Amino acid sequence: MPAARRFTTIVGPVALGLLALSAGAQTPLKTLLVDVDHRASTSLNGDWHYIVDMPGRGLYSAGGKINDNGYGLNVKPSMTVGGRVQEYDFSTAPTLKVPGDWNTQEPTLFRYEGIVWYQRDFPFQPRAGMRTFLHVGAANYRSYVWVNGKRICDHEGGYTPYDCEVTGTAHAGNNFVVIAVDSARIADGIPGLDVDWYNYGGLTRDVSLVEVPKAFIDDFDIHLKKGTTDTLSGYVHVEGGMAGSKVTVGVPEAELAASVTTDATGRAPFEMKAATLALWSPGAPKLYKVELTAGTDALTDDVGFRDIRVEGTRILLNGKAVFLQGANAHAEAPIRGGRVTNQTDVDNIFGYLKDLDANFVRLCHYPQDERMERTADRRGIMVWSEIPIWQHITYEKPEVYAKAVAMLGEMIRRDRNKASVILWSVSNETPDNPVRTKFLTNLANEARHMDDTRLITSALLQPKTVDGIVKQNDPFTAALDVIGQNEYVGWYSYRAEEADALRWELPQKPVIMSEFGAEAKFGHHGGKDERWTEEQQVNFFEHNFVMLSHIPQVRGFAPWVLADFRSPTRNIPGLQDGFNRKGLVSDKGEKKPAFYVVKKIYDEGRMGKAE
Ligand code: GCU
Repeated sequence: MPAARRFTTIVGPVALGLLALSAGAQTPLKTLLVDVDHRASTSLNGDWHYIVDMPGRGLYSAGGKINDNGYGLNVKPSMTVGGRVQEYDFSTAPTLKVPGDWNTQEPTLFRYEGIVWYQRDFPFQPRAGMRTFLHVGAANYRSYVWVNGKRICDHEGGYTPYDCEVTGTAHAGNNFVVIAVDSARIADGIPGLDVDWYNYGGLTRDVSLVEVPKAFIDDFDIHLKKGTTDTLSGYVHVEGGMAGSKVTVGVPEAELAASVTTDATGRAPFEMKAATLALWSPGAPKLYKVELTAGTDALTDDVGFRDIRVEGTRILLNGKAVFLQGANAHAEAPIRGGRVTNQTDVDNIFGYLKDLDANFVRLCHYPQDERMERTADRRGIMVWSEIPIWQHITYEKPEVYAKAVAMLGEMIRRDRNKASVILWSVSNETPDNPVRTKFLTNLANEARHMDDTRLITSALLQPKTVDGIVKQNDPFTAALDVIGQNEYVGWYSYRAEEADALRWELPQKPVIMSEFGAEAKFGHHGGKDERWTEEQQVNFFEHNFVMLSHIPQVRGFAPWVLADFRSPTRNIPGLQDGFNRKGLVSDKGEKKPAFYVVKKIYDEGRMGKAE
């Protein structure tokens, strides 16, 4: 039975020929600070007052313009603005916790997708010669920021950080900040209108004030120079400094120190050769304290040094062929539910990965809380990090391409010094058509331009089967270092037993099986052919791994998915109840029998060959 395509590819008006996607007007990066968790900051986490703006009248005035006379002014009900009596009062409004999605905090907002206004007061004491930024770890999906009644910035993208300068706007004494967060899906958004995960809205990650000197380090890169095992190279970028200003880079434990100067763009490249350097790997996740100074600014980081490259169909970590065995993980807090917001949530997820004997995790389908990569760095788990180009977005619009570039840049800028991240992924399961292929090929090359020390990948749709051969001939594979291949042979198509005989034809590049899985409700028993039973999920994996073991260039397994996660598209009462049940672990943290099937495969190491 031919594999039914799981998703009808609805391709918009495909421009004839290849659309020359110009980079278009680049959406400027709004991530101005890096390594924020190593800077002194004033947390603005906690209780924020909120107002639900269902009609959107508080934010968007006629014609969709942002209303600067709306709730951002934070006035009292007695006041009038623009001749209109104001009918809101943040000071007596209810509160939501920040960070956190509103859906799982407030039952009346569980399914709400729209605008929520957040407000809180904050004391501040400006210091001479310092600049102050409001740092937002993530706000899904679009957000607009006012401080003391003045709109200072906005941001689009639900999963990457941004910074708004408040220098001169925040004053001595009491201040207030208002942030409108609009979680509504938009046709030109990334992701698009339809995704198989919950559209959690809100200030979903930490919010803080960060003070830096007038000239400060706003970007840096330090990595093992390709082809070496002892040389570190990279750059430090100083914002607001003079050309020729001094920058120092030190790795004391490696007895390394360099003193360099910035060029006219503020960038100071460096290279340092160590006598010895312990390289980062899953078995030995060595992190070094890196110390940077530029003028009065000083910044440290904890960085691992390693080399990742492909050679033929192998993935080489520090020159040694490696096999990636892990799982996909959504940013869903185990047991509690909702967005991951703290280290406990992160440790729970990594606890499951450790129990699975994983050395790899695909952080699907969007950049996740920075604590995930920090923890992966410390625990030696290799990471696939991805921007949320999921199936259908508006590929034909240059402004959507510009958004994708900005999102990619914000992801890379935040995590470029995290050794655990070995793969940047530009997309998941996108329709094979010329406009999309041009868009993603440009994007993959843009990623390589931004960071040539990592591998570029993408997860591709399961191809059609012709005469028993599943043949992957998507032209986009030409742009990838590593191919991600999703497949659901035995769930969305075929019976599980038919997987044994299926043969695959894939390009001669390393392949990671980036998704494969079947649904089971924890504790639900029945025949091995009965969907949603635990026995069926076990049967799926037992046959799937046989099929996958026949593909010589497979260098990684990422079963879909580590844990059940909330999704508005999964609505079978009693079996799904609003959850995608392909988890190896239930949403309550209960390990299903399939968890142990995968663990046994990983422990025995007999199904995956590094070379
Ligand atoms: C797709 C998609 C996932 C989705 C999964 C499923 O492959 O990438 O985001 O959840 O299939 O259908 O469960």
